Order: sequence, then C-alpha cells, then structure tokens
Amino acid sequence: MLIVKELTKYFSKGIWRKQYIKAVDSVSFSLEKGRTLGLVGESGSGKSTVGKLISGLLYPTGGKVFFQGVDIFSLPSTGRIQLRTKIQIIFQDPQAALNPRMSIGNLLTEPLKVHRLVPGRYLKDRVADLLAMVGLGHEFYHRYPFELSGGQNQRVVIARALSLQPELLVLDEPTSALDISVQAQILHLLRIMQEQMGLTYLFISHDLDVVQQISDHVAVMYNGEIVEQLAASSLFHARNSYTRSFVDAHIPLVSTDRVQPQKNKGLN
Ligand SMILES: Nc1ncnc2c1ncn2[C@@H]1O[C@H](COP(=O)(O)OP(=O)(O)O)[C@@H](O)[C@H]1O
Ligand SMILES: [Mg+2]
Repeated sequence: MLIVKELTKYFSKGIWRKQYIKAVDSVSFSLEKGRTLGLVGESGSGKSTVGKLISGLLYPTGGKVFFQGVDIFSLPSTGRIQLRTKIQIIFQDPQAALNPRMSIGNLLTEPLKVHRLVPGRYLKDRVADLLAMVGLGHEFYHRYPFELSGGQNQRVVIARALSLQPELLVLDEPTSALDISVQAQILHLLRIMQEQMGLTYLFISHDLDVVQQISDHVAVMYNGEIVEQLAASSLFHARNSYTRSFVDAHIPLVSTDRVQPQKNKGLN
C-alpha cells in the first residue's frame, strides 16, 4: 500500500541558507492496507515532516514514496489532485483546521462540492450520514466550530477527511490536545472507522500508550532517522538503546481499565 524509501528532507537555515537541518534523513518503511504504523519520537525528531511529505504538503530533498505502486512525487499535477483525496492528513488542533466562519454543515459540504463527489440533491443526506458516522447528531449541522468542544471538532475534522473516501489517513497527534477521556473516544472512533472502511493509518504521536493501543507496528524516530521498527506489542520490551531510554522516560498512564479486579481477596 505505502512504501517509503530513503525519504529525506533538509530545511535550509541561516541567512545565507548554507546550513541545513536534516529534519528527515533517509527514512524507509512500508505499510500494508488496513494496518496502522505508529510513528513515535521526541519533539523535533521529524515525525510531522514525514507526515507532510507523505501527504504531499512538502516536497522531499530525496527519496521516494510509492502509494499503491505509484511514485507520488513523479505524478503530473492532475494525478496529484486525485491522490490528494486518497491520502488525508489530520492534525492536532481541530479548531485551526476548521474555518470559524463556516457552519459544520457547510464545512462538510464544501469538499464534496469541490471534488464533485455527490450530486447536489444528495449533499444534505450525505452530510447527515457523515455526522452520524462520527457520532454527531443532525443538530450539529447549523452549529459553528466555536460552539463545539475540542473532541466534537476533531470528529468534524475526521468526518471531513472521510467524506473524500480516503484510503490512507496520516494522523499527526490527533488526540494530543484532548482530555484523556475524549482521547479514548476518538481512538475508539478511529478504530471503528478503520474496521468498517479498511483504512490504513500512519499514526504520529509522542504518547507511547496511545501509539501502543492503536498500532500494529511502531517506528521510533530520533534526529530525523528511524532507529527501530518493532511490533507494537513489544514496544515496552524494546532492545534498542534509544527506544529503551524513550520508553523509560515515559510516564505510564494511570488508567482504571488496566487494573484487574481482585476477586474475593481477603473478603468473603
Ligand atoms: N518548515 C520548516 N522550516 C525549517 N525547519 C523546519 C520546518 N519544519 C520542521 N522543521 C525542523 O525540522 C525538525 C523536525 O521537525 P518536525 O518534523 O516538526 O518534528 P516532530 O513532529 O517530530 O516534532 C525540527 O528541527 C524542526 O525545527
Ligand atoms: Mg510534530
């Protein structure tokens, strides 16, 4: 589905632009349809740059990205527009992604119109379906982003991405701005959407608990490079020294659902 080969992005810095930041340095991985790859690493390690390159928001300094066998950076502009609907990126801050002057109904209608995905007379129905799909009632149609909570707005962002019938979602810290309980709801929604639509996820986060919950595999980034790739289930038993230090520095989530009830202990 997705094959990333030696993907590299340098940003120039300094007044003469002769110095470079190696934001992404020869990153390679592959991702199968319907699966989730978690991309973890500390702030500044290059995770978002990888996400933006794959979504076509940035052009690489080097390397290749093959999506369904097609080299995405060699596509002519028409091909790239088609591709843009198939790969959608979702960011941390839903409020920033939504035009505050547009109602939720209009925000969801616009991409359907732009990409001519639904005939005019079916637009309202399709938007109602999209709202229902992400667990929002039809009363949200006439509301505005500022009237919604962060979690509700992120649901709108997800609905809008799904409206284009994408195949790959790049999720860049999609729950990092949300309260823990809301985080869990959004992760649950993402998992259901993945099951129902066979979606493929690149899930970027610095939160190991979240990444372990949602991913099949995990790639660990440090200084622009992937230092280790492993099964999500073995993340907390990693051998690689950087992964180990990253895992050790991580503060585990205190979550009640992980505490096993101790039945009949000392009581009867
Ligand atoms: N548009 C940009 N111009 C210059 N430097 C950038 C730009 N975007 C990111 N960087 C730099 O690239 C490195 C990786 O950034 P980023 O991909 O955002 O990391 P992460 O998402 O892991 O926090 C950082 O050093 C960051 O400062
Ligand atoms: Mg980032």
